[in-house]
Amino acid sequence: MALLIPFVFLAYAVLFATAFSIPPIRNFASASDAQQKPLQDTLDSWIEEEERIALDKLLANVAPGGRNVENAAKGSVIASPSTDRPNYFYQWVRDAGITMGSLVDIYADDPSSKLAADLSNILDDYAELQYHLQHTHNPSGSFDDLSGLGEPKFEADGSPFVGSWGRPQRDGPALRALTLMSYLRAYNTSHPSLWTSDSAEDWYMPFYHASMPANSIIKADLEYVSHSWNQSGFDLWEEIEGLHFFTAMVQMRALREGADLARAFEDYGAADWYAEQAETLQNFMQRFWAGNKGHLIETLGSSRTGLDCGLLLGSLHGYPSPDSEHLPVYAPHSDEVLISLLALVQDQRARFPINSSPSSSDDDEAVLEGVGLGRYPEDVYDGYGNDARGGNPWFLCTSSAAEILYRTASHLSSSQNLTISALGLPFYDALLSGSSLDREAGRNYGPNDALYHSVIERLKSLGDEFLDVVKTHADAEGSLSEQFDRVTGFMRGAHDLTWSYGAFLQAVRARKSAL
Ligand code: NOJ
Ligand code: NOJ
Repeated sequence: MALLIPFVFLAYAVLFATAFSIPPIRNFASASDAQQKPLQDTLDSWIEEEERIALDKLLANVAPGGRNVENAAKGSVIASPSTDRPNYFYQWVRDAGITMGSLVDIYADDPSSKLAADLSNILDDYAELQYHLQHTHNPSGSFDDLSGLGEPKFEADGSPFVGSWGRPQRDGPALRALTLMSYLRAYNTSHPSLWTSDSAEDWYMPFYHASMPANSIIKADLEYVSHSWNQSGFDLWEEIEGLHFFTAMVQMRALREGADLARAFEDYGAADWYAEQAETLQNFMQRFWAGNKGHLIETLGSSRTGLDCGLLLGSLHGYPSPDSEHLPVYAPHSDEVLISLLALVQDQRARFPINSSPSSSDDDEAVLEGVGLGRYPEDVYDGYGNDARGGNPWFLCTSSAAEILYRTASHLSSSQNLTISALGLPFYDALLSGSSLDREAGRNYGPNDALYHSVIERLKSLGDEFLDVVKTHADAEGSLSEQFDRVTGFMRGAHDLTWSYGAFLQAVRARKSAL
């Protein structure tokens, strides 16, 4: 069944590729070519097509059925089909967990659809393979003491990757548990009768079983996270060792939602333990706020600035599931996250030549506009190797900024309240730069205030500016690689990066609910 989807979408993609406009930055077409060029797509129409293309190209990297992964083990999610310069033909636990999480969201939209049935098969295969990976003896360790769960990547055929690498990475088990828990909840909602049937135990046991942790993927991950969140590991970019914001955020969320799941399965001892660790971790999270710098930092005790796209990703992936009752910590709409986003955007705007626009030269006041965002200021990985002149903007980071802004807009709309604190004021000032609407710290604004509406509108249009950057640097077929060049704007690094498609799809979901 999974085989069918890519073909349908492929035909669609081919059809639309011809209708695509060529982004100006690489428009080297001759005058006669230019005459045949269709009118420039609007952002809306581009997003609509790109949404289909991104899902198609994402599924192309998932086995079985994906056209780029014919020899990969059933259930594997390849980071990119690129096998050379760079070789990304591996399955990373993080990339796979995040990507499959996006598919669970699509599944949950309409579990009775044909697409959902295909996705459900893919998710079952993913789960089965993860069980196997958990039990695979690897350079991080073994299953016996759970140390092997910190292994960041595996070969496409499911065997361990034995080369040297930044290991362990402790975000993977948390992300995998979150994705499988969310699948379990979505499946439960759409198959209520299963839970009272005789086959219930057979179905959920591979996911969670109180007395058989060794056979339950989620429980094994929760045990790993609850016993090791306070130990150092490599960051999500696989480069530095320590304790990291992104990792801690997804660990905290996994422990909270894991405690709920354990309780639902009457595994009370585990539930209490996960909840207790979640609370300790939540208190610990305060350390990621650097008061002296005025923003969050990604890694504790690091000599870097700490500004990092991992802050945005941590806020997004650490946000409690809509069906849970947990209060968010460092939510996308929080002052700490928004002010950190402002600082990161300003750094990247000045850093990358493609981000400079006529308005950026002579401003004394902080302006906030959509730009290409990279991983962090000190980055030197250029997609193929290290370049001392610095890194480049990444698609997944640029999409994540859009998602933060859309989700903030949604939050303000549903809460009907905007409180501008002294901490958050610089963000709102930059957001509304050029607007004469009065704003002051310490005030609440609501639907009766013009400012409240302007903020929501501007959040959405700023989100669109970031997606417009993605549109500009995607190619004519709608492909997204890992990075785009800071000077020329051309795509670079691993092509068809699965996570680039997933992050784009997440941003588009958030955009829909904000609009
Ligand atoms: C170096 C990069 O900085 C790192 O993030 C990446 O995971 C590895 N190379 C492998 O591509
Ligand atoms: C390098 C990135 O830094 C890392 O986050 C990712 O997991 C791998 N590439 C694979 O996409």
